Amino acid sequence: MAVIALASPKGGCGKSTTAITLAGAYAEQGYTVRIIDADPRQRVARWAEVGTPGDSISVVSADATSIVATIRSAELDAQIVIVDVEGSANMVVPLAISRANFVIIPANPSAADVEDAIATVQIVHDTQTRQHEGSVPHGVLWTRVPTFQSREFVALASQLAEAGVPVIGQLAERTAYKSLFSYCTTLDQLPPDEVPGTDKARAEGIVLADAVTQAILANQEKAA
Ligand SMILES: Nc1ncnc2c1ncn2[C@@H]1O[C@H](COP(=O)(O)OP(=O)(O)OP(=O)(O)O)[C@@H](O)[C@H]1O
Ligand SMILES: [Mg+2]
Repeated sequence: MAVIALASPKGGCGKSTTAITLAGAYAEQGYTVRIIDADPRQRVARWAEVGTPGDSISVVSADATSIVATIRSAELDAQIVIVDVEGSANMVVPLAISRANFVIIPANPSAADVEDAIATVQIVHDTQTRQHEGSVPHGVLWTRVPTFQSREFVALASQLAEAGVPVIGQLAERTAYKSLFSYCTTLDQLPPDEVPGTDKARAEGIVLADAVTQAILANQEKAA
């Protein structure tokens, strides 16, 4: 049904966490999900190998030479394809963007992340899409958002709005997201009595998946 690419040249902004969060949310909704781990460090591939991603989620690896073919075959095998990339400027990013139906650009609420998010939006605009018209639908995802009122966050959000950058949603700073890599499972499988914020994180994941689905459907209707 859809290819969703995580994109940012910024390391540690939350791409892999978002990939796993989204995969879990889509799997909960009954979709089959393929995550393509195109980061040479292979953290998501290890997450799946060591842990319990669930029957609906599979993970495969790819690099710049194999990414396009890997996306193509993933689209035949699964309903949702999520591409996770390395946090650096490399060839995989535009290749993944070019095959995507939606690009998520994660950014922490920091001036550096906002700068990198705006630069990534430019890469999206410069990349030819699979429909060959307009740029691929995209949005910044705020990650590690403080759960308390933060003036800095409000200021950064208005900076993005002034730059005309769309925002697709937000994930708060929660232990549950960190625990994805220690328990090596999806949010719905974390033990809520051991990991605080599990239910809230899970709900944020569902809201994000719904927002991405809606954006993809709206774009398909527009194109039809
Ligand atoms: N919403 C969140 N709440 C708490 N911790 C988070 C959240 N999102 C990410 N983290 C933590 O931040 C760190 C970086 O996240 P992650 O590995 O997802 O980023 P990344 O963009 O994939 O990094 P890289 O570019 O190195 O691959 C991890 O330790 C992760 O647990
Ligand atoms: Mg990563």
